[in-house]
Amino acid sequence: MTSIGIHDLEVATAHHVLDLGLLAESKGIDPAKYRVGLGQDEMSMPAPDEDIVTMGASAAWEILRRHGTDGIRTLLFATESGLDQSKAAGVWVHELLGLPSQVRVVEFKQACYSATAAIQAAMGIVSRFPEERVLIIASDVARYELDSPGEPTQGAGAVAMLIGADPAILEIEPPSGIHTADVDDFWRPNDSSTAVVDGAVSVRAYLDAMTGSWDDLAGRGGPAIGDIDRVVYHQPFTKMARKAQQRLDRHAGGSLGTLGLDSGSVYNRRLGNTYTASLYSSLASLLDHEEEDLTGKRLGLFSYGSGCVSELITGIVRPGYADADRSARVRAALDTRVPLDVPSYRSLHALEHSSMNDLETSHVTRAPFRFSGVRGRARQYERTDGAARLP
Ligand code: HMG
Repeated sequence: MTSIGIHDLEVATAHHVLDLGLLAESKGIDPAKYRVGLGQDEMSMPAPDEDIVTMGASAAWEILRRHGTDGIRTLLFATESGLDQSKAAGVWVHELLGLPSQVRVVEFKQACYSATAAIQAAMGIVSRFPEERVLIIASDVARYELDSPGEPTQGAGAVAMLIGADPAILEIEPPSGIHTADVDDFWRPNDSSTAVVDGAVSVRAYLDAMTGSWDDLAGRGGPAIGDIDRVVYHQPFTKMARKAQQRLDRHAGGSLGTLGLDSGSVYNRRLGNTYTASLYSSLASLLDHEEEDLTGKRLGLFSYGSGCVSELITGIVRPGYADADRSARVRAALDTRVPLDVPSYRSLHALEHSSMNDLETSHVTRAPFRFSGVRGRARQYERTDGAARLP
């Protein structure tokens, strides 16, 4: 059987950053609560001319620059920050990237889980047509109400992935463990740009879903816990991965301890929650920061989307997986974000998604693509000077 999996992945983020130390001070909270208690240092925040489309296009552009578009007939856009009730955000990306018209585009939604569903769909396509490759974009802006407990767990970012046969990074193994349950832990009603959340319920639901996924994986002939070398997790805040690994060890009788937790959360500590992109930015972080050579190692990837659906998949790291250029690019993207002070952050938060009337945005972003405004209630995007044509 052909091996299928992640051939390449790229992380992009937004123009602005808020230091969580500043946010804590503004509320009279000990900054250690955020830095240690939640394990978060910063959160990315989009400029008014950025959104899930521009971040997703930036991540995908880098992938296509390296691999071209040959064999790509499907673009799956995973998000829970959907911009339209009908149109898939990926259609705007398709235009911005100049993809051929023979590429189908669709949007996947189930909270932070949907990028993993997109991977499963992509694996099905590639097993039927091994010469095809599927472009997946996971892109989200995590928004909670100002002054709510969820506020320090906001963030913004995108991960683009190329799924194909004979993958260069991670061969995904066939069995996976699934867990679905109807839980009111976190959701975003149609008339709200911020999520409704019960934090304590959501943490419990996440951990229960993880053990449920493990049991399903074990029942379907998945690997023994001792045969899994590292696990990366959906990280609403990086401390959640610590809680999850502790629970996994206890539940499955493993001894992972803290293995992989620091290396798998370098990007996430600085991006904040990126919802659908979070698990895959953690994978990029692990691949880019783990000191031990991961070639041939088995990774577990735990995907959780509130509501809730979760899946635990495993994969084997391929020789030559390391990409020093990617880690330099992601570090540069994180280091060059423009810092916000708390009053500017609060006004930007209020501005976002405030209107769907016609508007023109001012040019702030340095990214290769921007949201230029709304005309006749339709969102408009453009390439900027930074966007060279794809080969
Ligand atoms: P909270 O009530 O502000 O925080 O909410 P807390 O009082 O529970 O404290 C958090 C931690 O900080 C605790 O550690 C404290 O002890 C510690 P823990 O007991 O958890 O190990 N702490 C300190 N540590 C050091 N120095 C100090 C200090 N003070 C306290 N001075 C909560 C926290 C996460 C609930 C809140 O931020 C929230 O509601 N976030 C949003 C929901 C969320 O992220 N849930 C996670 C699971 S659900 C999920 O992952 C899905 C999601 O991504 C969405 C999707 O799927 O689409 C959210």
